[in-house]
Amino acid sequence: MQYDFDSIIPREHTNCLKYDWRKQIFGTDNVIPFWVADMDFKVANEILEDIHNAVNHGIFGYTYQYDSAYEAFISWQKKKHDWNISKQNILFFNGVVPSINVIIQEFTEPGDEIIVQPPIYHPFFLSIESNKRTVIWNELQENEGTYYMDFENLKSQIGPRTKMLLLCNPHNPVGRAWKKEELEELHAICKEHNILVVSDEIHSDILFSGTHTPWAKISEDASQNSITLMAPSKTFNIAGLHLSVIITENTAYYKRVQNFINTIHLTMSNTLSLVGFESAYTKGDAWLQELLTYLHTNMAHIHDYLDDTRIHTNTPEATYLAWLDCSELNLSEKELHAKFVEAGVGLSNGSIFGKGGEQYMRLNFACPRKTLEQGLEKIQKIAR
Ligand SMILES: Cc1ncc(COP(=O)(O)O)c(C=O)c1O
Repeated sequence: MQYDFDSIIPREHTNCLKYDWRKQIFGTDNVIPFWVADMDFKVANEILEDIHNAVNHGIFGYTYQYDSAYEAFISWQKKKHDWNISKQNILFFNGVVPSINVIIQEFTEPGDEIIVQPPIYHPFFLSIESNKRTVIWNELQENEGTYYMDFENLKSQIGPRTKMLLLCNPHNPVGRAWKKEELEELHAICKEHNILVVSDEIHSDILFSGTHTPWAKISEDASQNSITLMAPSKTFNIAGLHLSVIITENTAYYKRVQNFINTIHLTMSNTLSLVGFESAYTKGDAWLQELLTYLHTNMAHIHDYLDDTRIHTNTPEATYLAWLDCSELNLSEKELHAKFVEAGVGLSNGSIFGKGGEQYMRLNFACPRKTLEQGLEKIQKIAR
């Protein structure tokens, strides 16, 4: 290994959510944190060096979104997902969740219905609710630890005010990298009912098995009827830099999003974020390959510790998030939360991800193996 994922880098007192908000979230600092989705690994040296150079220059004036940043992203998509996009399809923005909110506001009206498929990353439905739109829940169906979309239920729920579907591709928290055939079936339904698909693909590069299918690649129609959101933040552990991209090959949609962004004057990006973005997509691949190997072994460790106990883990195809089925413990959501905190580990309660999450806990395993093992020993005690 060229890169070091084993070193434990203290993050306490750095104003990071994961460590410095433990008291707020868990009522105590005395838990090993496995909750919010960022990693406890140092960013690749190549990226750090480019950011250091930009810092050393010493001037952080207004910066436009320069061609080489676009090109870095375009080449990455071509290389990693065989997806051809052009500069005129891409808009930079300050994060995926802010983008979801812009798109909800631009493409729907208060009272319109927007579909989500829980258990799902909670800001999806929180954004719908905070914008006074109505959430349509199409709960995923679980079968032997794997989750599937329920197309029949989806069809039965669509009405005249159903305007949009927020897709999580791959899906946080259940770790599915949706197959092309599944996406095609979903597209057929959305096309028939004129439902705009917003595909959040922020986790697409943390992939362990199968392939990532960009929604826009499944067909020309799907591409025209969608907006895709991506970012280097999960892949390269630069979430705090807050830079993401909005991609659509539909020229009319592109103009509408662009006008919205112009209107709120968020057209420029953070100088250092752009440097990190370009550097990640041009120089981060070797680090990412080693990271994936390391994470894969971490996942195997979770199985080693928990197989043959009363807590059952899935094997995510994508994301560094394990989805722990705790139903055999027969505890309420509140009791489950308390049990984990009491044991000294801070996980995300499955219930925050909506329907179907009540008996689960989400474990972020993007941390040094020693930290993970310490946590797993504690979880094992609950699980026995
Ligand atoms: C599916 C998904 N989308 C978006 C985000 C956050 O994106 P951003 O920080 O760019 O708003 C996360 C973070 O965990 C996520 O899991």
